[in-house]
Amino acid sequence: MFFRYTVKKDKRNVWDKMAPVWRKREYMVYTLLNFDAAKDIRLFGMKNWLLGKQHDILSEKQDRMLYSKNLWIYNSIFAHGMLVLSTAAVYGILIFTFLGRDMSIGDFTLYVGLSTTFTSALTNVLNNIGGFKQNSLKIDDFRSFIDLDMDREESCINIPETDKYKFEFKNVSYRYKGQEGYALKNLNITLEAGKKLAVVGLNGAGKTTFIKLLLRLYDPTEGVILLNGIDIRKFRRNEYYKIFSPVFQNVEIFAFSMAENISMKKTEETDKELVKQCIEKAGLKEKLDTLEKGVDTELLKILHDDGIDLSGGERQKLALAKALYKNAPVIVLDEPTAALDALAEYRLYKSFDEIIGGKTAVYISHRLSSTRFCDSIAMFKEGELIEQGTHEELLAKGGAYAEMFEIQAQYYKDENGDENMELRGEAAVNV
Ligand SMILES: Nc1ncnc2c1ncn2[C@@H]1O[C@H](COP(=O)(O)OP(=O)(O)O)[C@@H](O)[C@H]1O
Ligand SMILES: [Mg+2]
Repeated sequence: MFFRYTVKKDKRNVWDKMAPVWRKREYMVYTLLNFDAAKDIRLFGMKNWLLGKQHDILSEKQDRMLYSKNLWIYNSIFAHGMLVLSTAAVYGILIFTFLGRDMSIGDFTLYVGLSTTFTSALTNVLNNIGGFKQNSLKIDDFRSFIDLDMDREESCINIPETDKYKFEFKNVSYRYKGQEGYALKNLNITLEAGKKLAVVGLNGAGKTTFIKLLLRLYDPTEGVILLNGIDIRKFRRNEYYKIFSPVFQNVEIFAFSMAENISMKKTEETDKELVKQCIEKAGLKEKLDTLEKGVDTELLKILHDDGIDLSGGERQKLALAKALYKNAPVIVLDEPTAALDALAEYRLYKSFDEIIGGKTAVYISHRLSSTRFCDSIAMFKEGELIEQGTHEELLAKGGAYAEMFEIQAQYYKDENGDENMELRGEAAVNV
């Protein structure tokens, strides 16, 4: 019993609380080994500060381990003490009975042997039960993790066999955990099959949250998202992910070959010709031509000394190539163009749109000029959809979109001189 109590206490007070400590330690290792952090660490003289943090984390870990050790020492002393007491009691009773001449020497020897065997067998059983309990607690977390999705997985249905996908958001709201306000409020919007939808708005308007819900990285707090009339939560998650080719703001590059970074498959399973075509379409061919090993060039210097690094713009083009290679029916671009100027972003969105042809697409941008070719433009403000229509309709309406477009167009004119005609599009014709 005491063993079981100790196991529980140890798990609750030490091992459950170790997770954040381990996370901190992992993060420190990651930061200290991260090439990107190296320049800041040197130039801002962060060495002592970081080492201090490392020291604090290790001390915290030591303290917890020490608590665990002490707990087990006390447990062991208590258990052995009890054993000694119970054995002494049994021996006492036997000796007392023997001395009172109620027992022969033969019986005495027999009872001593029996009690020793019984005690050791009982200790073994109790230890094993305790061991089971300990292991059961250890795999409890794993069980609850496995159970997370399994219950729903059996009742899941297959994605409809079509390449015409229509998405509808019905009264969708989303609030991040621990936040008071909603990041998206009562959103009603439809993404028609084969159409291009733009979502525009200032930073923090809820554009990325909208994409995360569409891709089912999060489920709505309220409301429902439908794919061809069916709640997207009914589909098998991994099957659902397959219908999207997304490109995000942050581009993850892996320390493998360029071809593998695009195909996301092993070299043997990668279609290198297709990789080259996607690289060309994504506008990265010039870079590829400078590489001796072509698409087999290793990226980053973490695993390969001759690995190469890519600039911000090149990384984003690589992400586009990756989306093209996946060739999924629905395209999502969430401002993968942060490293580009306004005109380059506009050109990239437009040429990317030509490459993907008639596929359904969602384009996100805070620069209104980039997405004006879309079939429908939805303007978000503080988590709400405030205006929707084509570029021309929204300009004619003279509301928030028109106002923001005018402000941005003015900015491009001042900054880029003659480039503003292309960026301003129809608006420029009216000037
Ligand atoms: N992981 C998160 N946890 C808490 N709040 C978040 C998180 N991500 C975004 N937010 C908040 O949600 C709002 C919408 O953010 P986001 O969808 O990223 O906007 P946008 O992409 O339009 O810039 C912002 O107020 C932002 O601070
Ligand atoms: Mg965003």
